[in-house]
Parts: sequence; C-alpha cells; structure tokens
Amino acid sequence: MMCLLKYWLLFLVLVLVAFADCKSRYNRHEIRKIPDGILFGTATASYQVEGAWDEDGKSENIWDRLTHSKPCPVKNCDTGDIADDSYHQYERDVEMMRELGLDFYRFSLSWSRILPTSFPDKINKKGVQYYNNLIDEMLKYNIQPMVTLYHWDLPQKLQDMGGWTNPHVVDWFTDYARIVFELFGDRVKYWFTINEPREVCYEGYGGANFAPAYNLSGYGDYMCAKNLLVAHAKAYHMYKNEFSRTQGGTVGIAASASWFEPKSEKDAEAAEDARQFEWGLYTNPIFSKNGDFPQVVKDRVAAKSFEQGFFRSRLPEFTPEEVELVKGSSDFLGINHYTSKITYRNASITTFPSPSFYDDIEALYDYDFTWETAASSWLKVVPWGFYKLLTKLRTDYDNPPIYITENGFSTRGGLEDDSRIAYYRQYIDAMLDAIDEGSDVRAYTAWSLMDNFEWRQGYTERFGLYEVDYEDPKRTRTARKSAYVYKEIIRSRQLDYHYEPDTTLPITIDDGQ
Ligand code: NOJ
Repeated sequence: MMCLLKYWLLFLVLVLVAFADCKSRYNRHEIRKIPDGILFGTATASYQVEGAWDEDGKSENIWDRLTHSKPCPVKNCDTGDIADDSYHQYERDVEMMRELGLDFYRFSLSWSRILPTSFPDKINKKGVQYYNNLIDEMLKYNIQPMVTLYHWDLPQKLQDMGGWTNPHVVDWFTDYARIVFELFGDRVKYWFTINEPREVCYEGYGGANFAPAYNLSGYGDYMCAKNLLVAHAKAYHMYKNEFSRTQGGTVGIAASASWFEPKSEKDAEAAEDARQFEWGLYTNPIFSKNGDFPQVVKDRVAAKSFEQGFFRSRLPEFTPEEVELVKGSSDFLGINHYTSKITYRNASITTFPSPSFYDDIEALYDYDFTWETAASSWLKVVPWGFYKLLTKLRTDYDNPPIYITENGFSTRGGLEDDSRIAYYRQYIDAMLDAIDEGSDVRAYTAWSLMDNFEWRQGYTERFGLYEVDYEDPKRTRTARKSAYVYKEIIRSRQLDYHYEPDTTLPITIDDGQ
C-alpha cells in the first residue's frame, strides 16, 4: 500500500514539474519588446455580427437557411438574424477599434447582401452602402480594412446548385470577387479570398457541423477542396492581372491550422499525416515548391479508394495547368490558430466509417489532461503548439510572409476575463519566439473584437474583447479586462505579464482625433 502511494506521489510530482515547466516557458520575460512593423488588429465575420438578415434587399444564405430549419440545430435555437446588429451599429464598432488603438480590422463581406441573385446582374446599392460606410469610417481614423470575401455564408441559391462541390463555383466566386475589387479596391489594400477552407469543406461538406451540413465525408470535402483552391487562385490572378497595378493591394487566403503533436516518438508519422490532411491539403497546393495536394494525401486516398472498389481516387486531381495556377497564388499565408492536439496511431481502434476523411488519415486525436480548456471544449491552451506550427510553416514553405488572421479564447461571459488575458499573453509570447528565430510574421489578429454568433454554439461561447449584451435590443458593447490589456500591448508595443489595468476607469480613445 505504502509502495503504491509512493508511486502516486512520484507521478504527481512529475506532472506538476512538467506543468510548471510549460507555464514558465511563456512568462519568463519580465517585459518583452514587440518588434516594430507588426500590425495588430481584431476580426469578425459578416454572419456572426451583422444581423439584418433580410433587410435592404439581402437574400438568404446557407446560415440563414440552417439556423431557420426545424428542429433548430443551434444551441438555444440562436440565429444570426440580429447578431450584434453591426449593420446598424458600425459606428460604435469603429469607436471600439479606436478605443483599442487597432492598426486594422478584419471583417468579411456578405455575398448575398452585395449580390442578392448571387450573380453580378444585380448589385444591391444599400448593401454596398453599408460596407462603404464601414470602410470610410475606419479609414477616417487610419484603421486599415482587411477584408475577407468569403467567411462561410454562401448564397442559398448557389448551394441549391451544389455550392463548393460544383466546379462552376469557380466562375461564381471570381465574378463576385471582380465586383468586390471594383467596388472597394480603391480603399481596401488587404484581401483574403476565403476563410478557413478546412472548415468550409470538412465541416460543411464532409461533416454536418456547419452549413450546408452535407455529411459526405471522404467525398464532398475533397471535391470542395479542389474547387475552392481553383476559385481562390482564379480570383488571386484576376486581382494581379487586372487590379494590382491601379489598386496596389495584397491578396492571400486565411487557413485554419492546429498543431498536431505526436503522442510518442513512434507517432511522428501519424502527426505529420494529420497536419497534411488537416491543413496541408489547402496550404501545400499554394505554398509548397511543387504545388499540388500533399503527396501523402494523394497516395493514401488513392490507395484506399482502390481497395474500397472505386475506379479512381476520391480525391479529385488537379490538371498540370491547375497545379501551376494554384501554386504561388497568395502574397502571404493567413493563419487562424487556436489550439493543439495529441496525435497517435492505433490500427486496432476503428472509430471511423470507411470511406471517410478520418478513416483516410488513420490517426487518432487526444488532449493532454493538464491543458487548460476554454468554454469551447476543443480549445485547449497550448502556446508552444503555436510556436511549433510557425516554425514548421517557416521551414516547409520557405518562410512566407505570415498574417495571423485569428487567435483567441472563449469564456461563458463576464468582464473579468483573466483566462483570456493569460491566453493572449502566452500565445503572443510564443509567436515572438518564432519571430526571433526568423518567422516573417507581419500581423496579429485577436478573435474577436466582440462576442458574436459562434456558429452551432450560438451565443453560449464568447470570444470578445468586448462583451455584447444580447438581452438588450441595442446590443450594448462593454470592454472586458482583456480589451484594456490588448490596448496596452498595442500602445506600448510590449508584452508585460504584470500589467494590471484599472478597469474602474472607462476605456478611452487616445488617437488624438
Ligand atoms: C474560426 C472562425 O473563422 C470563426 O468564425 C470562429 O468564430 C472562430 N474560429 C472561433 O471558433
């Protein structure tokens, strides 16, 4: 008995030591200087904040359709019908950006608000006016607009024709992109074509978590991936050929990328496979030297498809011309990063149906029980995973310019959000480590400016630097403690773990205007 107790104590001490070591790695600096030139901002997305879902000529998109379906698929039957009411409250939104002292604000455009028929035959003047107002208001205060063309809210009509699984989406998207560049490109100099291709394709077409909830894992996700990449590349080249000279902007994509850490040495291959399937599928064709889908993904899906009795791979092939078109089609790599997963392989555990995307990966995921969890169950605090991810992107893709397009932490609400503050400090610290070693990070974006519609979780998971009161028809926004801290990081251009803001004082605008 005593012996057993001894082993338990030893185990406990080892866990505590390991935990303390991880923690200390990311608050070892008293004060850490942030190199000049890195831009700081926050982000949101159209469906998550705008509301006004059927106002002023906007037509239905796939999230309107999903959230209005019965039985309601979202927690508490929440919808984005009103959301943060940003359609009417953009001036307050810009005021908050000024309070924070942001260099830029990343937001997305609602395709069905600008083109209610989905096509360029009819441009909705009122929808365009809203975005003009927002952009002009930001520029008045020297806040750069960073604009995402597509953050998941496809016009429903296009979905009825197969959405991202229909190869014609390439033309639909480039036509929409042309209109957008023509309308706003005189003032917008930072463009992201598509937000999180993995979530668009896997969660929407492979799984059923996001609209349009096709649930066609192992087929729909791969068809979407190919069409999406070609659509992105066509829009990129159109900008370069037709708009770049007069507008002088820069165009990229915003990919989600978690870090996959091997459980043990023998799981190194499983972890690498996970990285290549989960984000390499989208980044390799654009950023690798040879382009195309990652070799391991091509080989694995082809081999499994033949074993399963298919006549060809479930992963569609790029033609040689398409490989060339997609390769290099981004001025920078946008990365949305939140968390890490422990990865391993165990052939005797068959969890996934075959065929399916996860059956193709042949890897299993887990979390380390010492990792702190946010309100979102998938979001564990692992700052060193961010460092490892940035290091790998630097080495694999020949050090591309990187924009951190999202990074953030969820709570259940409340203004005293010390856990969010700790997350931001540790993740920015990890990013600075990668920068010190040569990573070319040019921008950092906190998700999010304010609480918003967190997809299937509705308003139950809060990511905002500002709290939004959803009981209040005015959707009043209030600065959280993290807003004060983020403001100070931007103002002082340094990371100070000991800085304590006085939140009894109102957060004020210091831009001298
Ligand atoms: C990434 C998505 O782009 C964004 O829409 C979402 O709210 C955050 N992740 C948090 O889950």
